[in-house]
Amino acid sequence: MYNQRVMDHFSQPRNVGDIPDADGVGEVGNPVCGDIMRIAIKVRADRIEDIKFKTFGCGAAIATSSMVTELVKGKTLQEAEEISNRTVAEALGGLPAIKMHCSNLAADALHRAIEDYRRRNGGAVGAGVAPAVAAGARAASGPAAHDEDKCPSCCGKIAQLGRELAEGRDITAGPPSDPIK
Ligand code: FES
Repeated sequence: MYNQRVMDHFSQPRNVGDIPDADGVGEVGNPVCGDIMRIAIKVRADRIEDIKFKTFGCGAAIATSSMVTELVKGKTLQEAEEISNRTVAEALGGLPAIKMHCSNLAADALHRAIEDYRRRNGGAVGAGVAPAVAAGARAASGPAAHDEDKCPSCCGKIAQLGRELAEGRDITAGPPSDPIK
């Protein structure tokens, strides 16, 4: 199902972890499958000096998380904002069509982390953000923003994971799930 590059990033993901004193953090969840992703960035002189991720999700979600961190490390914030889900999928040599939506998580979490950095630093959130980014940010609301009444199973799970993330739990440790779905 997955090509070798995807499997490489899934089985040996780069930049897994957290940045305790991060300058920006982005969290997104997929309301359909319940997967969740968190990206933390450290910014120096308008460049992404360091980036780490934690993903509770499928093989494609983990591989795209890993790849997006490799793509943007050392890039300027503006260059990072131009990364789209398609950029990430192409860098992985392609994803199965039914897994393309998984790549949205990585790009959206990255863009949210940059937005968070700009917000913390008094910048205008959304200024200079590519249209695809703005659309993605609208489409993928964060875990806490999901309406649990509309979708009690997956949105409730995302909200719960979001709360646990905020409390510092390592979401990569569970809850138990089949990582290669
Ligand atoms: S991100 Fe949920 S199935 Fe891939």
